Amino acid sequence: MRITENKIDEIRNAADIVDIVGGYVQLRKRGKNFIGLCPFHQEKTPSFTVSDDKQIYHCFGCGNGGNVFKFLMEFKNISFVESVEEIAAHLGIKIQTEESTGDQQNELEVFYDINVIAARFFLEHLTKSAEAEEAREYLKHRKIKPQTQRSFGIGFAPFGWDNFLNHAKQNKIDLVKAKQLGLIDTNERGEYYDKFRARIIFPIFSPNGRVIAFGGRVLQNADNVAKYLNSPESQIYFKRKSLYGLYHSKDEIRKLDRAILVEGYMDLVSLYQAGVKNVVASSGTSLTDEQIQLLSRFTKNIFVLFDSDSAGQKAALRSIELLLKQNFEVKVITLPKGEDPDSFINKFGKEQFDEEVTSAVNFLEYQTSQFELQGMFEDPAEMTKAIRELVRTLALVNDELKRNLLMKTISKKFNLREKLIESELNAALLQNKTKVETQASKQFFRSEESAAESKLTLPVVHVNQNPNEKELLRLLFSGDEKIIGYIFDNVAVESFVNTNYMKLAELVHDGWNEEKFSPADLVEKIESPELKNFVMKLSLNDEAISKKWDDLAFNGKVEKDTFEHAVETVRSFQIFQIEDEIKRNNKIISESKDELLHIELLQRNRELQDDRKAMLNLKANN
Ligand code: UTP
Ligand code: MN
Repeated sequence: MRITENKIDEIRNAADIVDIVGGYVQLRKRGKNFIGLCPFHQEKTPSFTVSDDKQIYHCFGCGNGGNVFKFLMEFKNISFVESVEEIAAHLGIKIQTEESTGDQQNELEVFYDINVIAARFFLEHLTKSAEAEEAREYLKHRKIKPQTQRSFGIGFAPFGWDNFLNHAKQNKIDLVKAKQLGLIDTNERGEYYDKFRARIIFPIFSPNGRVIAFGGRVLQNADNVAKYLNSPESQIYFKRKSLYGLYHSKDEIRKLDRAILVEGYMDLVSLYQAGVKNVVASSGTSLTDEQIQLLSRFTKNIFVLFDSDSAGQKAALRSIELLLKQNFEVKVITLPKGEDPDSFINKFGKEQFDEEVTSAVNFLEYQTSQFELQGMFEDPAEMTKAIRELVRTLALVNDELKRNLLMKTISKKFNLREKLIESELNAALLQNKTKVETQASKQFFRSEESAAESKLTLPVVHVNQNPNEKELLRLLFSGDEKIIGYIFDNVAVESFVNTNYMKLAELVHDGWNEEKFSPADLVEKIESPELKNFVMKLSLNDEAISKKWDDLAFNGKVEKDTFEHAVETVRSFQIFQIEDEIKRNNKIISESKDELLHIELLQRNRELQDDRKAMLNLKANN
C-alpha cells in the first residue's frame, strides 16, 4: 500500500511520541524530557531520552534515535509502512487501502508507459512527418546524425496545441497522469492542451533506460520563450537525482573510470556522437549532492566542463566544492571563450577535444585563474581573501599527500605568498580536525603538534573557534523558524570554524529551505553517530551527560529561546570573528617581513576596528 506524504505528515503530527514510546518503555519525567532504560541495549541506568517538544527519542548509550516511526520500526522490527499503519490505527486515522504494493508498481508502470508512448510519438513525428522538415533541418545544421538521434530517442513535438493530446486519447492514456508527467496541461476552462509544442525533444532516461522525463528545445532562440522546457518533477522523475545521459554513458564511465560533466543536452549528445562517451549532463539544475552520489557508483574521477560564460563558471565553482566534499578527484576543462562543448567538438573534432582533456587543470589552479580574472590579485586585501578562499577549498581534500602537492602548485603561483598559504592551510586543517566530541581537546593538541612538526619557522595563524558557534547551532536546531531565518541572514554557514558544526549548520540550512521542516527529520539525516549524539545532547538541552546521568540534579529549567537572545548570540559571534581576524593579522604582521603585506593588513585592521566599534554600539543600545 502506498501512503501519501500528506497522510504521513498528518499521522506524524497527530502522534505523541511520549505516548507511543511510553507504551513500551517505562518513562519518567526528567527536566523537559522523559528518560527510561533503553530498549535497544542493556543498561542499568537510563540513557534513553524522549523529547516531548521535539517529538524524537535518542539513546545516549547506544546512539539509537529518531522520530516516532523510527522507534516502532526498531522496536518491533517492522517496515516504515507498517509503523505508520500501526500508529495510524492507534490514533484512529484512516489510511485509504485501495492500492496494494503491487499496484503501486503498476501505477508507476502506467507513468513509464505514457512516457514511452510520448517518446515514440515525438520520434515518429520527427522522422516521418512532413511538418517536421524544419526540425530535421535544424538537427542537421547542428550536426546531430540520424543515428545519434535514434540512439538518444530524439524527437520533435509538432506545431499546434493538441497533437499529442489526440494521440493520447486514441491510446486511451489517462490524461490526469499525462498531466502529472507534464506532457499536457489544462487551461482556465479546464481543457487540455499540449505542453511541448514545436520543440526538439530529448527524452531523459533513468540509469536503467526508462523514459522518466523530457527536455524540449525551441527551434529558434527567442527572448520571450525558455530555450528549453523540462518536464516537472513527477512520481517517476526526481530532478535532483537524475543525470542526463548516464544511461548511455555509464559503461564507458566505468571502463575509463572517469566522467566528464557538462551542462547541456546538446553538449552531451555531440560529445557522445564524436566518441567522447563518458559524459553526463546536470541539465537544467545546478549539480546536486544526489547527482554526485549517483555518479559515484560509476567513478570518483570527474572533469568539470562548463560554459566559459560567467554563469557557467560560477556553477563550476559550486559543483567543484560539492564534488570535493564527496571525495571526488576533480579537474576542470576550460574551453576557449565563446565555445561550449557542443560547438567545440563540432568545430575542432575529437582529437583537439582530447587535448583539452589532457590539459585539464586541477580545481585549485582553476579557482586561482578565476580569481585572477576577477582582478583579485591586484588588490592586496582582495588577494588575502582569494588565498583564504583557495585554502578553504584545498582543505576539503582528504588525501594528505595530494593536498600537499596541490599546495605546492598553488604556492608557486604566489611566490611571495608561499608561507602565508602554508600557514593558512595548517590553520584550515586544524579547524577541520577539531572534533566536537569530548576528545576535542586531545585531537586539537595532536593536530597542533603535527602542524608544528611540519611548519618549522613559518608563522602559523589559527582561525580560532568562535565560542558562540555551539550556541548558534543549538538555536538552529531549536526549530524556531524566525530565529533560524535570522541566523542564516547574518551568519554564513561557511563561517562556522569547526567543520563539524559547519556540516550541521549546512544540514539545517538545506532542510530549512525545504518545505517541510522538522528537527527530528534532520537528525535522521546525520550519518555520523558521533555528530548525531552531539546534536541530541545540544537539542535535548543536556550538557552534562555522563555515567552519573541518573544522579544528576536536573532541575528542569526550561527557558524558551527568545528572538533577542538569538540576535545577541549572532552579534557576539560577529564580534568574535572580527577580533579574531585582527589578532591573526597582528600575528602575521609580527612574524612576516613582507612590508606590502604589513600595509595591507594594517589597513584591513583599521576597517575591522571600525566594524567592531559599530557592533559594540549596537550591542550596548540593545
Ligand atoms: P545553455 O543555454 O547553455 O544551452 O543551457 P545549450 O545547452 O548550449 O543549448 P544549445 O546548444 O543552445 O541548444 C545549458 C543547459 O541548461 C538547461 C538545459 O539543460 C541546457 O542544455 N536549460 C537552459 C534549461 O533547462 N532551460 C533553459 O531555458 C535554458
Ligand atoms: Mn550549446
